[in-house]
Amino acid sequence: MSIQWFPGHMNVTRKAIAERVPEIDVVIELLDARLPGSSANPLLAELTRGKPSLKVLNKQDLADAERTRLWLAHYQAQPGTNALALDASEPAPARRLIDASRVLAPLRGGMVKPMRVLICGIPNVGKSTLMNSMVGQRSAKTGDEPGITKVEQKILLASDFYLFDTPGMLWPRISVIEAGYHLAASGAIGRNAYDEEDVALELLARVRGPYRNRLEARYKLAGLKGLEALTDSELLELIGRKRGGLMPGGIVNRQKAAEIILHDFRSGAWGRITLETPDEYALWQAAGEQR
Ligand code: G4P
Repeated sequence: MSIQWFPGHMNVTRKAIAERVPEIDVVIELLDARLPGSSANPLLAELTRGKPSLKVLNKQDLADAERTRLWLAHYQAQPGTNALALDASEPAPARRLIDASRVLAPLRGGMVKPMRVLICGIPNVGKSTLMNSMVGQRSAKTGDEPGITKVEQKILLASDFYLFDTPGMLWPRISVIEAGYHLAASGAIGRNAYDEEDVALELLARVRGPYRNRLEARYKLAGLKGLEALTDSELLELIGRKRGGLMPGGIVNRQKAAEIILHDFRSGAWGRITLETPDEYALWQAAGEQR
């Protein structure tokens, strides 16, 4: 089963971004550092083609540092593109965004030609948190359910540096099957769009190879014989059993086990994990185009 996500039309957002783009010097795309490829919206690339682009990998505190390095190098190799990783709640993210944007548009700046930057990102990547930490107050709304109202705003980050928020909602667009699962696992799409057990199984399949020791540590599985031979479904049951997800008669509550797995991933309880590398994502995209 795949993810059934139909977020509705983005025509209003598309039009509003297209109108804003001509006066913009740099486009900041906020991505989730745990799933940079999956959290990008291809519509944005299409609408802002030719504009200098700053990719900001947010939630780096939850992501695998080595894989973050791979993604940064991947973006920095693209023409007109700069990239940095941050944690939206770090004390002074504005300075780094300003400096990285200035590298991309060195001719802008000063009172006569202030830098105008547009910040975009799908829900739940941490845009409100970042804007809040940049303005130093809770002016943007944050919440745990993707898609709640956003107020368009312009922030003066420096006397000659304007930051515009996305005019409208930039919904995720699921272009490859794996991206749908990664978005669901991260909490970026509504809960009614997917089955938690499906997503938890896919998540286990993705992490049990590269991050096996994290699962072993979290669920006390180290040294268990035959662990590798378990199917993903059996592994989910084992985790459910270890975490007390049992129903009368000792039957594992698979729904509860799935919820535990998703919660532990989202909260960072497994440690720092990134679900995809640039090479993997490129392969999935190529396979998706052939389907
Ligand atoms: P959005 O505007 O892009 O929709 O996202 P928002 O800022 O609402 O952030 C979504 C969730 O991600 C929030 O958690 C927020 O705290 C968390 N978050 C944002 N940036 C970072 C980051 O760099 N690192 C980590 N670890 N978390 C981040 P929440 O559980 O929905 O709410 P709460 O924890 O703020 O109560």
